[in-house]
Amino acid sequence: MAIVNRWIRRITTRATAFIAIVLAIAVTAVACSGGPAADSGETVSGIPPEVVVDYIHTVAASDRTAYTKHVVGRLKTLEGIDKPDGVVTAEATEAWQETNGIPLPAQMFRLGAELASEDGNFTIGLISPWNINDNQAPKGEFEEVGMQEVIDTGEPYKGYQEIGGQQFYSAIYPDPAVAEACVSCHNTHPVHLERYPDKVFELDDVMGGVVINLPLAGA
Ligand code: HEC
Repeated sequence: MAIVNRWIRRITTRATAFIAIVLAIAVTAVACSGGPAADSGETVSGIPPEVVVDYIHTVAASDRTAYTKHVVGRLKTLEGIDKPDGVVTAEATEAWQETNGIPLPAQMFRLGAELASEDGNFTIGLISPWNINDNQAPKGEFEEVGMQEVIDTGEPYKGYQEIGGQQFYSAIYPDPAVAEACVSCHNTHPVHLERYPDKVFELDDVMGGVVINLPLAGA
């Protein structure tokens, strides 16, 4: 019972910290976007956009890594394939809603990203040149050039860009294979095998990128 209580306390603390960080980011994003109080996009005080995107990325990436390692990694089945060292009888699968399974890390990430993007302060998403999901190929010059740079250097790629007449500060962060589950699932996925038969991911490889777009108003 004590253990359960400790867990509940830990989870509550973690959730509160997460909400606090998200709120801080939301407030900052509004401040940096030259909201009502700011003079112009160039002279806003507060946290610079290149730091705000780092904060957003850190929270989102940490949550996904924790989910992959400590939830998906403990399952007995991954996309229909037996996992001998699993301890929980459940399956992480793309069709999680139809099969009573649990979402894949990329789907979990998107569920969170959709909620986080609802208020319009920023958007966050996953891309990869070896994409399984058609919607997640790099699109436009910033993503195409940036994704290649990130793969070549392993470093984030950041800059200003215009999308549909709106100015954004954007960043692409490397999305590395942090757990064995990332590699084994992608390498054996039927779409991956069909589209990229020669691409075999290894642990720590850059598998794609996390894209964050922070809208800037009045610049
Ligand atoms: C059990 C299977 C599975 C695991 C584990 C998994 N993925 Fe994926 N991943 C997928 C599938 C399937 C998609 C496409 C589904 C979607 O996003 O709708 C995807 C999407 C992605 C994308 C977006 C590009 C694309 O392929 O559409 C990236 C980048 C990615 N995964 C990286 C990772 C990383 C890094 C990890 C480990 C932290 C990981 N994946 C773990 C199956 C998996």
